Amino acid sequence: MRALQVAVLACLLAPASAQGSVEGDPHFVRGRALFDKAFHRASGLGSPDYNGDSCRACHQDPTLGGAGALELNVSRFGRDSFGAGPYRDLPGGPVSSKFRLPQVGGREEYPPAPNFPDVFEQRQPPALFGVGLIETIAGATITANEDPTDANSDGVFGIARRIVINGTIEIGRYGWKAQVPLVRDFVHDAMAEELGVTTQDEGRAFGRRADADTIADPELPSDAIADLDFFLRGLPAPARGGSSDPRVAIGEASFAQVGCAVCHRPTLQGGGGSVPLYSNLLLHNVMPAGFRGMAEPGAGVGFYRTTPLWGVKHTAPYLHDGRAETLEQAILQHAGEAQASRDAFAALSTPEREALLLFLQDL
Ligand code: HEC
Ligand code: HEC
Repeated sequence: MRALQVAVLACLLAPASAQGSVEGDPHFVRGRALFDKAFHRASGLGSPDYNGDSCRACHQDPTLGGAGALELNVSRFGRDSFGAGPYRDLPGGPVSSKFRLPQVGGREEYPPAPNFPDVFEQRQPPALFGVGLIETIAGATITANEDPTDANSDGVFGIARRIVINGTIEIGRYGWKAQVPLVRDFVHDAMAEELGVTTQDEGRAFGRRADADTIADPELPSDAIADLDFFLRGLPAPARGGSSDPRVAIGEASFAQVGCAVCHRPTLQGGGGSVPLYSNLLLHNVMPAGFRGMAEPGAGVGFYRTTPLWGVKHTAPYLHDGRAETLEQAILQHAGEAQASRDAFAALSTPEREALLLFLQDL
């Protein structure tokens, strides 16, 4: 099974290029083994809650490092006074949970207790291919495309996620609300939130230093975090399908023409060249009026990072909560800032819509 996964990984993903030598690197091999490793109570699993016993448990489709199916979604819980707002976190802050309400900070409360949850948001496990290239995109490159006042009056705004770390503002790149700046930060965060494993303080406020189980903290040393970080950053970007169907190019032109590319920008400049991610990495509100979900500092209710579309052929179901089964449904469910673009897509002829979908299937 393991050998098969690696073989599948090798042929599914990008051509050798810059990544060629990474797979044999001992850091990569150790990081991949850690990503695949099933943790146990004795190795620190749980705080005592946990959502999965390994990184692989949720990031596995179609191969190690990939996306997760609907049943692997995690849920977030909060309060918005039955939609009247404003949104607020439950005591103990936002926590992702897979099976049930996390048992921390008095969360297991029901009406009329003051802190019972009344709003829930599901989040899909995204595929991790290409996260290393996204990390090379400078914060200034991301903020260059912001349009907080809609200065060009196209109905599309776009704001970068700003996160204060040690008094310095950094730009978020990862997570559905772009809440995390670096891959390494996400490794700490996922160890804490998903596995309930504590990590060494590396001075950036992600992860958890101590938990309520009996295993000595930190449960995972910094060199293990470094190996996981190296592995994830070495995962190649998704490879283009390479279809020779002439409709793919027609679909690509329509994609730009109906305004998809304003948010799903085909490329952003990275440290080693242009990164074909099909995202501007900015937050947009494309939810319908009355949408209820979580708010985080700098990312209000309904605001999500433009999802990168590279590899989208492998990541159904779609949207942050997986509520769209097909690419067409995902497009038709865009509203808010993307309403005009969505309507322009819907107004295309059937062959034009099919061509656009074929183009997406080729990314
Ligand atoms: C229970 C399922 C689950 C497990 C287990 C899990 N993840 Fe995730 N992962 C998610 C979900 C859901 C998201 C999106 C979270 C969000 O944005 O709120 C995510 C997002 C990520 C991202 C950000 C990707 C991007 O492009 O935005 C990284 C990196 C990541 N996970 C790494 C890991 C690592 C490393 C582990 C093991 C320590 C791990 N995950 C374990 C569900 C899981
Ligand atoms: C105003 C910015 C904006 C425009 C315009 C826009 N999108 Fe999106 N798109 C987003 C955001 C934000 C999300 C994430 C929404 C969510 O997860 O709930 C998204 C999600 C998606 C997804 C789901 C990807 C996944 O893996 O879940 C697809 C597919 C998609 N967009 C395609 C398109 C196409 C095709 C068009 C043009 C018809 C378009 N989008 C126009 C911002 C935009």
